[in-house]
Amino acid sequence: MPNAPVHVTVTGAAGQIGYQLLFRIASGQLLGADTPVVLRLLEIEPAMKALEGVVMELDDCAFPLLAGIEATSDLDVAFTNTSWALLVGSIPRKAGMERGDLLSVNGGIFKPQGQAIAKNAASDVRVLVVGNPCNTNCLIARENAPEVPADRWFAMTRLDENRAKTQLAKKAGVSVADVAQLAIWGNHSATQFPDFSNSTIAGKPTTEVITDTAWLEGDFITTVQKRGAAIIEARGLSSAASAANAAIDTVVGLRTKTAPGDSVSVAVASRGEYGTPEGLQFGFPIVADGEGGWSVLEGLSHDEFAKDRIAKTTEELVGEREDVRGLGLVS
Ligand code: NAD
Ligand code: LMR
Repeated sequence: MPNAPVHVTVTGAAGQIGYQLLFRIASGQLLGADTPVVLRLLEIEPAMKALEGVVMELDDCAFPLLAGIEATSDLDVAFTNTSWALLVGSIPRKAGMERGDLLSVNGGIFKPQGQAIAKNAASDVRVLVVGNPCNTNCLIARENAPEVPADRWFAMTRLDENRAKTQLAKKAGVSVADVAQLAIWGNHSATQFPDFSNSTIAGKPTTEVITDTAWLEGDFITTVQKRGAAIIEARGLSSAASAANAAIDTVVGLRTKTAPGDSVSVAVASRGEYGTPEGLQFGFPIVADGEGGWSVLEGLSHDEFAKDRIAKTTEELVGEREDVRGLGLVS
């Protein structure tokens, strides 16, 4: 007997990431080839006409796994019975801005969305926040939905992991598939720490394969931290296809068992791991058990350089939390 359809909500569905994401979800790349999906697509009123066009295109693909589409500007309808809510809808930054500059513009979107998720979603709901600044937007939504357990909330740092893996693979002259346990610590921002020191290349410590420490501590980190800005500078628009790809990778990484010696990068609600303040939505290396459970990878050690980087990104997230408290978005 086929699996029952799973409801998946995508907000900002008529935007650029939405356009790269929906067709992949409907073709089975998010939840697998055995799971039909009902897409619940949220947009603001002015974008509903564009969303109609996207729905027509989804129809025209005749995806066998697409069991229904609900396009709406109503939060309650968008989150009804949803098991995966992908919160993309929000304003992207422009050249010259940092992602944190969006907090006052976008933060207000995530309070009512958190409340609507708590009210309407399925009991197994999981939420991935993509809209920037994604860590703190996720914190806002989560704190406004106390009924939904804190371990169901995720913010996207996987794009940074993918970027970092490619930089290491190119430097070492190997395939990206050879790079493992590459964790993004902290914020999806220019303070993030792509932790080369605990990563491996073809099973060996990265620092044994790439001995150019100045590059690892310098250009490698800044390239990853500033990649989003470099794309905006080049394209005039923020990353979309790679962001949608990372959203799929995040959900697949959380659904499937993590291979031994590997981890996946996701920002989760800190329970104080590695001395991080509790409650921050903090990027960690995560290990998934393949049955919906996950934990922060334990036992990693950091030298003074890494500790200093992690302290800086922690400090930024603490500051963002203070800011949204000041805006009345969380208590
Ligand atoms: P976009 O402007 O192309 O699309 C955003 C869509 O969201 C628009 O269609 C808009 O109408 C809709 N929207 C705005 N307010 C909404 C609301 N309250 N409810 C529902 N929909 C709403 O932007 P995009 O390029 O798709 O990027 C979306 C967000 O994702 C941005 O904040 C961007 O910075 C972020 N992003 C994050 C990552 C990451 O790695 N975490 C990567 C890339 C982009
Ligand atoms: C990215 O990393 O590409 C996105 O977060 C978009 C941005 O503003 O950098």
